[in-house]
Amino acid sequence: MVNMYGVTKVYPGNVEALRGVNLNIDKGDFVFIVGPSGSGKSTLLSLIYRGTVPTRGHVLVAGRNVARLRWRDVPMLRRRIGVIFQDYKLLPDRSVYDNVAFALEVIEASPKEIEKKVPQALSMVGLAHKASAMPEELAGGEQQRVAIARAIVNDPLILVADEPTGNLDPDTTLDIMDLLCDINVRGTTVVMATHNHVVVDRMRKRVVQLERGMIVRDERWGAYCHEA
Ligand SMILES: Nc1ncnc2c1ncn2[C@@H]1O[C@H](COP(=O)(O)OP(=O)(O)O)[C@@H](O)[C@H]1O
Ligand SMILES: [Mg+2]
Repeated sequence: MVNMYGVTKVYPGNVEALRGVNLNIDKGDFVFIVGPSGSGKSTLLSLIYRGTVPTRGHVLVAGRNVARLRWRDVPMLRRRIGVIFQDYKLLPDRSVYDNVAFALEVIEASPKEIEKKVPQALSMVGLAHKASAMPEELAGGEQQRVAIARAIVNDPLILVADEPTGNLDPDTTLDIMDLLCDINVRGTTVVMATHNHVVVDRMRKRVVQLERGMIVRDERWGAYCHEA
């Protein structure tokens, strides 16, 4: 589902964020990307959703070389990848429903499709009853659920999560992890960067560790969701 070959990313100022990374992620995998701050986790994730392109090497997502996509094909790629962040990135002046609907509006889904898919996504994350609430009225964990609903409303192949539990308390963190597991069990590949050792240890998933832009560990625990 994701293949990286000899990927190096150099930012302006000669910052080498990734150095010669080789990584293969299969369809349906659940992968943690761990490592200290500045080790390249966010850069690695952004290569998947084409937030950035590699300086050297190749990144293939669903068999397509993302750096070589024609401009008009980029939205098609993005539609197949959901992304969530530590700070949720909800639109503050739109309701929960409209935040999720927005992901469909930008790809010009029909009103009929929007009416069908938004309630489905909200019930998947357990927030059907909050559809008309505004983001500021919600707790952090609920806001992240809205962001997850928005990320999965297009049935993406891959869910990319960059420290999604970074602002949440331990109990809420575990709720969000259960939800990401449910999404993974339904067939979506999940790639999640985190600092949280408790989460990583508990879930017993594949762990890819970065240090100074290089993969120093790639360990497969092989646990399936709900087994841990
Ligand atoms: N847009 C950018 N411009 C310049 N340097 C960047 C940029 N983004 C990240 N970096 C640098 O690249 C390195 C890796 O950053 P990042 O991928 O954000 O790591 P992590 O997510 O593990 O903290 C760091 O040294 C960071 O300062
Ligand atoms: Mg980061």
